[in-house]
Amino acid sequence: MPRNRATASPLFVPRKATRTQQRVARAEFAKARTKARAAQAPSRRREHEGADPELQPSYPASGRPGPASARGGRLRLPKHRMTTAVAGGAYPFLAEAGLGAEGIFIGRDLHAEGSFCYDPFALYNSGRIEGFTNPNAILCGVIGMGKSALAKSIATRAIAHGYKIYVPSDPKGEWTGLAEALGGQTIALGPGLPGKLNPLDAPGRPTGVSEEDWTNEVRKRRLLLLASLAATVLKRDLLPMEHTGLDVALDLVVADAEATETVPLLGDIAHVLGNPERLDAALGDQAGGLGRAADDLAHAFRRLVHGDLSGMFDAPSTVAFDPAAPMLSIDLSRLGSSGDDTALVLAMTCASAWMEAALADPAGGRRWVIYDEAWRIMRHVGLLERMQQQFKLSRGLGIANLVILHRLSDLLSAGDAGSRGRVLAEGLLADCSTRIIYRQEPDQVQVSMSLLGLTGVEAQAIGALTRGRGLWKVAGLSFIVQHLLHPREKPLYDTDFRMTA
Ligand SMILES: Nc1ncnc2c1ncn2[C@@H]1O[C@H](COP(=O)(O)OP(=O)(O)O)[C@@H](O)[C@H]1O
Ligand SMILES: [Mg+2]
Repeated sequence: MPRNRATASPLFVPRKATRTQQRVARAEFAKARTKARAAQAPSRRREHEGADPELQPSYPASGRPGPASARGGRLRLPKHRMTTAVAGGAYPFLAEAGLGAEGIFIGRDLHAEGSFCYDPFALYNSGRIEGFTNPNAILCGVIGMGKSALAKSIATRAIAHGYKIYVPSDPKGEWTGLAEALGGQTIALGPGLPGKLNPLDAPGRPTGVSEEDWTNEVRKRRLLLLASLAATVLKRDLLPMEHTGLDVALDLVVADAEATETVPLLGDIAHVLGNPERLDAALGDQAGGLGRAADDLAHAFRRLVHGDLSGMFDAPSTVAFDPAAPMLSIDLSRLGSSGDDTALVLAMTCASAWMEAALADPAGGRRWVIYDEAWRIMRHVGLLERMQQQFKLSRGLGIANLVILHRLSDLLSAGDAGSRGRVLAEGLLADCSTRIIYRQEPDQVQVSMSLLGLTGVEAQAIGALTRGRGLWKVAGLSFIVQHLLHPREKPLYDTDFRMTA
């Protein structure tokens, strides 16, 4: 070993060298480095000769020289520990505190890099999230982005958690396969199909409600249904005399049905309405009789009994509501398409009335009611009214509603600012503590921003979301979530199969 190895190689300084030896070694190393650089410099200068001085780098392409390069050494940062809550405060939006692991697995939270679970009932009960006042959700996004797939995943996975699923109107018939696969029921309605629903069916009396209260409740529901069916066909609000006409006709029909031990049918209502003498006799001397006021009503109900919807809603129900079935959907895809939506709206009104009556039992367990393609409902005040009532009842009945739209401006299509329809639609949004936004067209971003109070970053995000990816606004919290499908879910939810060979 040489006596002084430090001078032999400046890179090696023996640990036991004296301070002087170390200083000498460092100085020699610095001298050698300067010499080497000077030798390299002319060639570097030559490389850039003639080049635009503006474009010349201020330091070589190999990077900033010297210790500032931060290369070769080890970067040491002091350890820092913090809770998820603190991280959430330090990096808002990027690292939202999360909804917890309770509930249904949805997919990946892309910002927090973790799994994302969601259960509106658990969130509501825990009271952890301020402003989470109801279990309802609204989901909107352009066609083909995976809205129905998400709803179907929620349905499938919720069943495993003991929930029941109801789809009161399925205009595309997409839910039938799923209901079958999960051991549920589907009722297909359409001309010539065997399925029939009697919207005047009286649901079983829930426990704890008195006989008299329940009779009144059933009568109220039936009147509401008759009024909204008539208003849909007549395309106008009913006159006070017409409301009286429905009232009297219903009481007559119910009394007849009780006497003969049958069920009241829409056909019977139409028949009584077409018989003014009988109505007047029942009304007695009040208001001088109805006269011909019920004529329009009689014609309106004729459409349901003899017109394009005949046979579907004016006969005893062919299916009994099975409260034990995990899933029930009403397939309206074979209704046939009339020029306007009237047939669909009438069918939806009857079908949802039938289902809502069955859902009125608070002992029915926790349930999801899914309104797929609900944008078609938005333009019809009668349907909106039903939906709003259903939303108001949701907590009392243990029901979470999920409404699927294309765009939030569908809510604005319900009427002009300040109109009844518009107020109902906007109230619907306010009654949804969870809002899930899938991709929106660029012209929709502004509307979404103002309706939901999105931040600039969120607004930018919703214009660029890909399939299955959505912005979840859960009360005040925001998440970007990629919905993940299980390989066995994929074929069940596929709506693209007709597009592939
Ligand atoms: N998260 C996802 N991962 C993979 N494929 C998906 C996902 N979500 C939806 N899809 C597929 O995309 C297609 C369109 O989805 P769908 O739910 O019908 O869209 P929407 O209801 O928004 O029109 C379906 O075939 C579905 O299988
Ligand atoms: Mg869909």
